[in-house]
Amino acid sequence: MYILGIESTAHTFGVGITDGNRILSNERDTFMPKKGGIVPREAAKHHYRKAPEIIKSALESAGISLQQVDMFAVSQGPGILSCLKAGVSVGVFLSRKYKKPIIGVNHCIGHIEIGRLMTGFNDPVILYVSGGNTQIITYLNKRYAVFGETQDIGVGNLLDRVGRMLGIPFPAGPEIERLSNGGREYIRFPYTIKGMDVSFSGIETYVKNIIGIKRREDVCFSLQETVFSMLIEASERAMAYCGKTSLIITGGVAANSRLNEMGKRMCAQRGAEFRALDKEYTGDNGAMIAYTGYLMMNEGKTEIRPRPRFRTDVVEINYR
Ligand code: ATP
Ligand code: FE2
Repeated sequence: MYILGIESTAHTFGVGITDGNRILSNERDTFMPKKGGIVPREAAKHHYRKAPEIIKSALESAGISLQQVDMFAVSQGPGILSCLKAGVSVGVFLSRKYKKPIIGVNHCIGHIEIGRLMTGFNDPVILYVSGGNTQIITYLNKRYAVFGETQDIGVGNLLDRVGRMLGIPFPAGPEIERLSNGGREYIRFPYTIKGMDVSFSGIETYVKNIIGIKRREDVCFSLQETVFSMLIEASERAMAYCGKTSLIITGGVAANSRLNEMGKRMCAQRGAEFRALDKEYTGDNGAMIAYTGYLMMNEGKTEIRPRPRFRTDVVEINYR
């Protein structure tokens, strides 16, 4: 069964095609603002403009035609309203034109399910780290329950904001990772963790005051060491509390080698399993939406509309 999934919650327009749990293609294009952060209207314009060519190349790499698609899946949120509108309207248009069903997917659950598929871990603790989201999740009573989360901004957002202060263009994560390898001095940043919740705004303020005083490499190194330690500490607490024996790190920031290394070490120390995700599937992508659509196939008809504040834990999971 061929499912075409569309992702457009923020900067990335992605299209993935799956046949059951086999991923046949995963194409995307990411909007890169010339200066500063994402301007919603411009990102949405990018998505409308790129949609035909990304859909075409996803179909070509999968070796199928639009007529052969059995079902469409769209990312409904959370995300930026104008960006969501782009993906949802393209999906609804295709579903009407080709008279095939369409299903709405929660973006965060997409990140979780692609993580479970790639690692083969059935019941892990999930550290979901991206630009807009930072959550520690595990499955409980037909929901993905959020055990801990950021009390202010997402960790990727923090990296991108610090990046902007250092003159690194968006998205700054990969360049911060590169610079951190040249770090020599550990600067003691605020380390704010309450139970399983974390907070990053104090770090942002702290960094503002040392920009130009400390070496860029040391700022990046200390930033990574501090925030990743907070996240791994909170994840470990969740694993102990829930009695889980595996960990998945998913979302855009899961591309980071240092974060994966810390996750791996923590799991090894407690005799738990860890497997890092392939970078192809850490950031926003269409394949995770198609695959989650496949899992949700029997949910029946859902209302398809953009849901900018669509929380992970409001979705009832009936396929597990
Ligand atoms: P969500 O809606 O799930 O919050 P998103 O719109 O933030 O998703 P993602 O692609 O999931 O999109 O994540 C993008 C984030 O990942 C950016 O903040 C970016 O800086 C960060 N990132 C990408 N690569 C790395 C890396 N190697 N190290 C750290 N952060 C990274
Ligand atoms: Fe994402």
